Amino acid sequence: MSLKRLYIKTYGCASNVYDSSRMVDVLKPLGYALTETPENADLVILNTCHIREKAEEKVYSDLGRIRAHKQEKTIVAVGGCMAQAEGGEIIRRAPYVDMVFGPQTYHRLPEMIARAHRSQDKKTGSGRGIVEVDFPVESKFDYLPGEHSHVGSSAFLAIQEGCDKFCTYCVVPYTRGAEFSRPPQAILEEAKLLLEQGAKEITLLGQNVNAYHGEDPTGAIWGLGRLIEALAALKGLRRIRYMTSHPRDMDDELMIAHRDIPQLMPSMHLPVQSGSERILKAMNRQHTPDFYKKIIEKTRQYRPDIAFSSDFIVGFPGETDQDFEDTLSLVREVSYSQAYSFKYSPRPGTPGAVMDNQISEDVKAERLMRLQELLNTQQRAFNESTIGKTMPVLLDRKGSREGQGLGKTPYAQSVHIDVPAELFGECIDVKIEKAFANSVTGSVL
Ligand code: SAH
Ligand code: SF4
Ligand code: F3S
Repeated sequence: MSLKRLYIKTYGCASNVYDSSRMVDVLKPLGYALTETPENADLVILNTCHIREKAEEKVYSDLGRIRAHKQEKTIVAVGGCMAQAEGGEIIRRAPYVDMVFGPQTYHRLPEMIARAHRSQDKKTGSGRGIVEVDFPVESKFDYLPGEHSHVGSSAFLAIQEGCDKFCTYCVVPYTRGAEFSRPPQAILEEAKLLLEQGAKEITLLGQNVNAYHGEDPTGAIWGLGRLIEALAALKGLRRIRYMTSHPRDMDDELMIAHRDIPQLMPSMHLPVQSGSERILKAMNRQHTPDFYKKIIEKTRQYRPDIAFSSDFIVGFPGETDQDFEDTLSLVREVSYSQAYSFKYSPRPGTPGAVMDNQISEDVKAERLMRLQELLNTQQRAFNESTIGKTMPVLLDRKGSREGQGLGKTPYAQSVHIDVPAELFGECIDVKIEKAFANSVTGSVL
């Protein structure tokens, strides 16, 4: 078997990062090995995101660059959420694209590649026109290899897919499909393999990860709290995280897990999007700001030091100055350790895109600036509050400078620190001495 070069570029969220790594695993038996640049790759995969318009523009401009050095034999594939949403339209816009496949069909990549090779002689110049965007009846997870080929000290594990919530701004229910939970036994098996291969931290992934409801062989349904408890019993698992949660799916079992399971890290990403009751309703979030604040309060009762992060959208159709002020008030009340905030981007096919009270770009930009100012202040204050504390830091990556390690505190703060090379991948105690807007640093004990 000759060695073939595979180039993958990943856009979007952690689920896509997981999917890309699983594509590598699916293609390994065919002789594909990763390469750093697309120039001389035999197979180029762009694993795309559809969440905002910007994500999409980026893909088309990258495709243009790839076309410039595409050789006759190179297979160019577009996978992921944008592929799912646009399907054959991508090939109409970029005819040199050979393959389009969605997030739920990449276990069929070997078959798609074989088809691409078969049709290679028939068609020249333009792509091979393979489009696989139907949601399959089978689950990709049943067809993926058990072992991951690249495992670091911090690993992702997808436990749940899809979303049935249909927030009116969001494409995910259309691109990832219906909500689905993997059986707990399959997850525990995959976790064991990750640990054998050196993982110390596992982040459980799902678009609605706390909606997890996996069925075990006895027919019993496990929630996320129970799954985390079973994972915590695995030898060698030092840290457990999960994302992304939805406020409506928070239950006592999960909150109590934050009190009782030492491996479960004291940080939670719980997006709220807006602090206005009216806007949350228009977004179809199915909860009020009060409901959200009560969940935060209750979780803090179980685990007082838990750090919260969130996602925000400014400028959703109909958002008034008062609605936006309500968002700022909620942020002040909750106080976040980290957050992501975005200007509303109307997405084709979503109810929000055809609402008639769209907000101007100027207003969105101004609100985003004000919100980010507040969030940045909170993030810096949180980082400063950890000065003087000694915390375990899992050094999961090398920094950009020689001898620099990058890691995370239990509260998911980024740490940059100079360490001897043999400590990379280890969990070490660090005394926090300095705080910045986006990270902290200190000395190794
Ligand atoms: N499943 C997760 C997150 C999905 S997408 C959840 O329910 O929270 C990640 C984030 O992108 C969202 O939380 C939201 O803040 C943002 N987002 C989604 N659609 C968007 C849009 N049309 N415009 C701007 N931001 C969007
Ligand atoms: Fe999108 Fe809402 Fe589902 Fe999150 S809960 S993935 S924001 S539709
Ligand atoms: Fe993007 Fe799909 Fe993730 S749209 S954010 S890659 S679920």
